[in-house]
Amino acid sequence: MDETRIQQAKARLGIIGNAPALAKAVGRALRVAPIDLSVLVTGESGAGKEFFPAIIHQYSPRKHAKYIAVNCGAIPEGTIDSELFGHEKGAFTGAVSSRKGYFEEANGGTIFLDEVAELPLTTQARLLRVLETGEYIKVGSSEVQKTDIRVVAATNVDMARAVAEGRFREDLFYRLATVSITVPPLRERGNDIQLLARKFASDFAEKNRTPQISFSDGARDRMLAYRWPGNVRQLKNVVEQMALFEAGNEISPETLAGYLPEATATLMPVLHQSRNLPATTGRGDGDHTYEREREMLFSLIFKMREEIEQLRADVDELKGEKPSQPASSLVKLRPAIIDTPVEIMDAKAEEMPPHDAGLAAATQAGLPEKEVIRLSLQRNSGRRKAAAMELNISERTLYRKIKEYGLE
Ligand SMILES: Nc1ncnc2c1ncn2[C@@H]1O[C@H](COP(=O)(O)OP(=O)(O)O)[C@@H](O)[C@H]1O
Ligand SMILES: [Mg+2]
Repeated sequence: MDETRIQQAKARLGIIGNAPALAKAVGRALRVAPIDLSVLVTGESGAGKEFFPAIIHQYSPRKHAKYIAVNCGAIPEGTIDSELFGHEKGAFTGAVSSRKGYFEEANGGTIFLDEVAELPLTTQARLLRVLETGEYIKVGSSEVQKTDIRVVAATNVDMARAVAEGRFREDLFYRLATVSITVPPLRERGNDIQLLARKFASDFAEKNRTPQISFSDGARDRMLAYRWPGNVRQLKNVVEQMALFEAGNEISPETLAGYLPEATATLMPVLHQSRNLPATTGRGDGDHTYEREREMLFSLIFKMREEIEQLRADVDELKGEKPSQPASSLVKLRPAIIDTPVEIMDAKAEEMPPHDAGLAAATQAGLPEKEVIRLSLQRNSGRRKAAAMELNISERTLYRKIKEYGLE
């Protein structure tokens, strides 16, 4: 694949990095784009898999038709067939009218099935059929319908294992993975880590009009040596926190360490102290003021929230249920990277029960609820919607608690 075409595609989609393994993945996406084959994108969570279906769509003859991204892991098992394939009026209780599924909506275009390994086996059977014949049947109907759709799927699970354990149909796996693209983990991309960190830092400073942070040589080395289990998503999160709390500073390795999860573990004693919320903490080294500790607590809370969500998903999986995902069922795409019509359908978000791991995680860790809410509101300049999102509670619950604690 022509190097300049790869560079152009990266620039067009805003993909940062020069690692050969990343360029190879982009090259494969460009090569397969014009040919109507199914593609499976694999890679760790946060590695940037979502760029690839977008490249494939945009560089395909389908680029003027619809592109729909569906997060299979976020749709409750009971409604997934209806969401994907539609239903007839009266197909089930509550089906007051018929509904088009995504396979009908995106006819002529591309559908991105994110977290495809989460699909229930019954849905896998329907998907196999539509991939092989273009045919599907709406829920509650007996009429066979036709659609012309390109499927790109993504997963961060070991598919061979999922197949071996009977969780994923082998025939579907081979059908989806006609072509596979592997997105390399961030830790294997060397200097890209630094490029990404600088980009995220300058984007943040520009967007929020804050003085830029810079990185000392030591901090850079530390970033290169770190494992980045959450990949680019984690790096972005860490850099944005530093861009906010360390605005204008040069980041030392010690400062950076404070924002990486391994280091936050050492804050546990502080966490326990904070039950009484002292004006300053017992660190005693002057610059570690209460303010600073609060910030640390927040990053710890967010990390714990993620861990609890993961645990919850694991438990659900063990129980043989679908994971209870908090977010909207559909992947959101930054509109800038797609210039063809994009459906961002998160109307269903309201129908989903509020997921409260954020505040719950904090209170379970022994933090006083009132204080956590107050800090979140402060952090979000009083914007309740943003605070509710951060705390992973509904706005309604937040209002109630604000009233309850007299935080107005
Ligand atoms: N190479 C990259 N350049 C710029 N941003 C990136 C890159 N890779 C990932 N990102 C950003 O990191 C975040 C996570 O990427 P995403 O595609 O959602 O990961 P995945 O789907 O693999 O879990 C997104 O905000 C994405 O824009
Ligand atoms: Mg993703």
